[in-house]
Amino acid sequence: MKVCTQNFGKGAQKIDVYKKLGGYANTQKILFGLSSFEVIDLVQRSGLRGRGGAGFPTGMKWSFVPRGGKPVYIAVNADEGEPGTFKDHFLMREDPHKLIEGLIIAGWALGARNAYIYVRGEFLPAIESLTSAIREAYAANLLGKNICGTKYSLDITVHRGAGAYVCGEETALINSLEGQKGQPRLKPPFPAVNGAWNMPTCVNNVETIMALPWILENGAEAYAALGTPKAGGTKVFCVSGDVKRRGVFEARLGIPLMELLESEEYCGGVVGNLKGCIPGGSSTQVLTPEECKKANLDYESLAAMGTMFGSGAVMPFNDTHGIVEMLNTLGKFYSHESCGQCTPCREGTGYAKRIITGIAKGRGHDGDIELLESISNGFTGTTICPLAAALGAPIQSYLQKFRSEFEDAILKKPNHAEARLTDDYRPEGWWE
Ligand SMILES: Cc1cc2nc3c(=O)[nH]c(=O)nc-3n(C[C@H](O)[C@H](O)[C@H](O)COP(=O)(O)O)c2cc1C
Ligand code: SF4
Repeated sequence: MKVCTQNFGKGAQKIDVYKKLGGYANTQKILFGLSSFEVIDLVQRSGLRGRGGAGFPTGMKWSFVPRGGKPVYIAVNADEGEPGTFKDHFLMREDPHKLIEGLIIAGWALGARNAYIYVRGEFLPAIESLTSAIREAYAANLLGKNICGTKYSLDITVHRGAGAYVCGEETALINSLEGQKGQPRLKPPFPAVNGAWNMPTCVNNVETIMALPWILENGAEAYAALGTPKAGGTKVFCVSGDVKRRGVFEARLGIPLMELLESEEYCGGVVGNLKGCIPGGSSTQVLTPEECKKANLDYESLAAMGTMFGSGAVMPFNDTHGIVEMLNTLGKFYSHESCGQCTPCREGTGYAKRIITGIAKGRGHDGDIELLESISNGFTGTTICPLAAALGAPIQSYLQKFRSEFEDAILKKPNHAEARLTDDYRPEGWWE
């Protein structure tokens, strides 16, 4: 069953095609006959959980938004900066009207008159697709004043981000939207109560919003039935790495990982010998081949295995890849993306990166593994946002599950002479 991707490849970027495929019909027929509280109740009963990574129940988040006073804003999180994640880009490019229709539903439920789509600035094809669809929707009186002859009005603005990963964090996104530095804010207050311009602001992922037209058309129970007992619906997975077919695949929540990787309907099989898999984006804990065989792709199953469902970015890799080099890439990414507000993140991610780079270049030292463990332990609960912990989780799981590769890299070539010439040189025992 396809909820978000059923119009892929059908030319649904054009409003007449989207309408022929059934688009906007139920919004016009059903939505405005329901009260906003009935729509929130529908979404709560559907079991829809946020698809941006944290998996927070969408209807519950909406119920926190105060009503009847200040203006309410919706911000669609289309920043999509997590390495391995590319589903939202395709969703917006292929079916922009479904996002617009989802926003009309969310806007009506939340009493919002303004919605912002905060999109990664480099996503030019998606931005073109979105802006032209928004223009068509205004012309068809599906946006703007008195939508479909009702008293409800909604404006959508596309806001291009400048490509900082941290701006995908909801409060940094809000700062950036306001024209301030893209740095996360302390929570509470949560955006649903105090967000953009100090007004209640609901931040939701693209895929979350795009599930709404299907829920309105088919009902909460039908959506809930597609998923697991604790989370409704399907999931759009983006698979990269060592499989025959990489790309965007929509499947039921809870699908076994190996079915996604091996079935002809999806990835068509692993290339080479499976060495491990990152199940939900680069910040999630890695799985060993034995764990891959037992893993089901849903929030609870992956949490029970000590990892996370995340954004649905599945990255299987074979035994041609070195774990130290993989972690080195992540260390470079996360330390570069730190916004610098919190010491454990600003300093710690840089330290961790330098140690990992040293190990990768054959300049590792005894004690480096323990030092990495200790630094990454210090990331959790000590920072404003979870960016540092997003490096801590892979560090700890890679060290735990593939420790011998780090030990070998340290033992094999301790090239101290070379180390003295580089900026990652540290005197013996400097951390003691
Ligand atoms: C460093 C960082 C980056 C994030 N990047 C994104 C992103 O690109 N897209 C996204 O939807 N959520 C991202 N999130 C999660 C958002 O903060 C937020 O939870 C999400 O947009 C809420 O939408 P949802 O409830 O529909 O999932 C990120 C979080 C962090 C800490
Ligand atoms: S954890 Fe890192 S990215 Fe997040 S607010 Fe602190 S310094 Fe910035």
